[in-house]
Amino acid sequence: MRRGSLVQLIVLGLVAAAITGAVAYWIPWLPKSAGEEADRIEFVFWFVTVIAVAVFATVMAVLVYSVVKFRAKPDDLSDGPPTHGHTGLEIVWTAIPTVLVTAISIVSAIVLAQNSRAGDNALDIKVVAQQFAWQFTYPNGQTYGTLRIPKGRPTRLDITSKDVLHSFWVPQLAQKQDAVTDQHNRIVVTPKRTGRFPIICTELCGLGHAIMRSHVEVMEPAAYRQWARSGGKSAANEDPGLAVFNGQGCNGCHTFAAAASAAQIGPSLDELRAEAKGAGKPLQAFIRESILDSNAYLEPGYQPGVMPSFEGQIPPKDLDALVQYLAENAKS
Ligand code: CUA
Repeated sequence: MRRGSLVQLIVLGLVAAAITGAVAYWIPWLPKSAGEEADRIEFVFWFVTVIAVAVFATVMAVLVYSVVKFRAKPDDLSDGPPTHGHTGLEIVWTAIPTVLVTAISIVSAIVLAQNSRAGDNALDIKVVAQQFAWQFTYPNGQTYGTLRIPKGRPTRLDITSKDVLHSFWVPQLAQKQDAVTDQHNRIVVTPKRTGRFPIICTELCGLGHAIMRSHVEVMEPAAYRQWARSGGKSAANEDPGLAVFNGQGCNGCHTFAAAASAAQIGPSLDELRAEAKGAGKPLQAFIRESILDSNAYLEPGYQPGVMPSFEGQIPPKDLDALVQYLAENAKS
C-alpha cells in the first residue's frame, strides 16, 4: 500500500472516530450515577463504547476509502480482476474480535459478581410488586409505598410479585430486576449520594404499567437511623392519616395540597367533595369505597383498573385514619 493511501485511511478513521466519539460523549445516555453498582455498570458501558467506536471507525475508513478509490468509471462494464482470500488478513480479523469479545465478557463477569455481593452489613428489604403499585417491607415488619435507604450501606432487595410480571428499576442506581410470582429475585444497591430517585416498573404489566412508579429516598445514615427508630414516622406530630397517605404511596399518584403532594397520575384529591357529589355518595363513604374498589366510581377521563385495590392491604385502623384525614383536608 502506498504511503499516501495509508495516510488517507488514517485520516478517514480519525474523522469517523471523532464524530462517533462526540455522539457517545456529549449526549447524556446515562443518568448521573447514585450508586456503587451504577458506577461499575457505567465503567462496562464506556469500556464497550470505546471498543465499538474503534471498530466502527476502522470499518468506516476502509469502506469510504474503497467506495471512492475503487469506484467504476461510468462506461467501464468489465469485471474486476479475480482475487483469492488473504490468509494473513483473515487471521487478523478473526483474532482481534475474539480478543475484544473475550475482554468484554471478562470485565462484565467481574462487575456482575461484584454487583451481586452485599457483604455482612446489608439492610434487607422485601419488595412486592402488584398491579400497579410497589410495597416495601422493612426488617421490623413495617410496610411502605415508597423506599427509604441509607447512603453508603448495601441494601439487599428481595423482589417478588403478587400477580403478573413486573420489573424493578431505579435508573440512577442502575440495578434492574424482574418481579415474578413465587420467585425471590435479589439485587443489591449501595447508594453513594443522597437524593430522591424514581422507581419505575420496566416490564409491561397492564393498563397502569406507565404509572406504576414510586420513589426511593436515599438518606444520610444518621437521618435514616432516626427515621427507622421512630417506627418510620417522619415527624412525631404528623397526622396518622398523612403517614398512611405517604406510606401507602398515595402521594405517588394523587395531588393533595394538605400533604404537599402534586402527582398527576390519578384524579386530584383536593376535589374529593366535588367527586363525591358526582358519584352521589356521602364524602367519607365515597372515599372509603374508592380506596377499597377504585373502579366503583371513575372520575371522567380516568381508566378503570389502573389504581390497585387496597382491599385487605391496609390495616382497618390505618384505613380509618386515612379516610378521616382525606375527608378533613379535602378542599372543594
Ligand atoms: Cu408493573 Cu409495569
